[in-house]
Amino acid sequence: MTVAGASVTVPPFAVVPGGQVQRTLAGREKQVVELVEATYRWHAAGDSVNPPSYFLRFPDRPTARIIALPASLSGDVRVDGLKWISSFPANVAAGIPRASAVLILNDPVTGYPFACLESSIISATRTAASAVLAADQLTRTRPRPTRVGFVGTGLIARYVHTFLAGTGWSFDEVGVHDLSSDSAAGFRGYLERAGTPGRITVHDTAEQLIRSSDLVVFATVSARPHVHAVSWFAHHPVVLHVSLRDLAPQILLDAINVVDDVEHCLKADTSPHLTEQLTGNRNFLTGTLADVLDGRVTVPPNRTVIFSPFGLGVLDLAVGKLVYDLVLTAGQLQVVDDFFHEVRRHGRLGGLR
Ligand SMILES: NC(=O)c1ccc[n+]([C@@H]2O[C@H](COP(=O)([O-])OP(=O)(O)OC[C@H]3O[C@@H](n4cnc5c(N)ncnc54)[C@H](O)[C@@H]3O)[C@@H](O)[C@H]2O)c1
Repeated sequence: MTVAGASVTVPPFAVVPGGQVQRTLAGREKQVVELVEATYRWHAAGDSVNPPSYFLRFPDRPTARIIALPASLSGDVRVDGLKWISSFPANVAAGIPRASAVLILNDPVTGYPFACLESSIISATRTAASAVLAADQLTRTRPRPTRVGFVGTGLIARYVHTFLAGTGWSFDEVGVHDLSSDSAAGFRGYLERAGTPGRITVHDTAEQLIRSSDLVVFATVSARPHVHAVSWFAHHPVVLHVSLRDLAPQILLDAINVVDDVEHCLKADTSPHLTEQLTGNRNFLTGTLADVLDGRVTVPPNRTVIFSPFGLGVLDLAVGKLVYDLVLTAGQLQVVDDFFHEVRRHGRLGGLR
């Protein structure tokens, strides 16, 4: 990338806008799920550096946050970088998405940033791919779910559904529940426009939805548990707990719990974190998704299974680098000329500059 012969050079700096990201990833659901699976394995094998995410919060805007996720990958994909993602839930009332993000890719040889990618799409994509990978892996020991339900129906729910459909899942019933009837209606409209097979039902309560789904996706913006009744899970569904803070500890204590990364997930008042605080131990954790992938953990068919993914920066890097490589190969990279201007340590020859 930057090593020409024995000399190391400053890489060009590119900007990849959201439209390009979306066009590049469209229809690649299976490829992205495979890449996310490989990345989990590299992470588990130690071919990554993924320090804790840093949460920037604001006393005057308590619902807002911006999170920094620095990471480094050294598996088959080699790249360093940073995701910088804002969550401003009040945006939704103004009709614009809650989350916005950029991803910076850094060259592992020189450290130079070589790309800035629009990253709300990359983030939603890797989140959905991770959830769908978990759905596939965690249902291998039970009949494949035929009834899916979405609690919280914003952008992430739409991406999870797109990834389920794009990797061959089809359901007899699709349940929808959201505190906002506009969101529920909007999601239903999306499902209908997408030609989703099966019966679509909008549920008035989370209880109705959970009781009538074998695969439950939580993608709300709830800051604290709003689901407390273990009895709602008596049919032992598989739960993709993408939004991390919906379930009370007693639900987790009655379930098989799989996370993406233990240290990451037991932070920031996630439901697993609350469960650790309540019990004083981590015995309720069954393992990581990488443990399931590698057969170190098998999931019994007669228990509720909860996947709580904190969301790892290495996944953003892997998907971001895929987008960058595909755009580069297509000859469509938009380079910002002269972005790194001061590239000679002692100045340019023949002038003050
Ligand atoms: N784990 C990860 O890797 C990861 C990655 C990206 C996003 N997320 C999380 O996914 C969640 C959804 O993100 P989004 O961009 O789709 O948000 P969004 O704002 O577009 O949609 C969230 C929806 O949840 C609804 N909602 C809020 N509280 C609810 C409740 N108690 N019951 C039912 N519905 C409720 C809202 O009305 C809204 O329609 C966020 O919490 C975000 O942090 C997780």
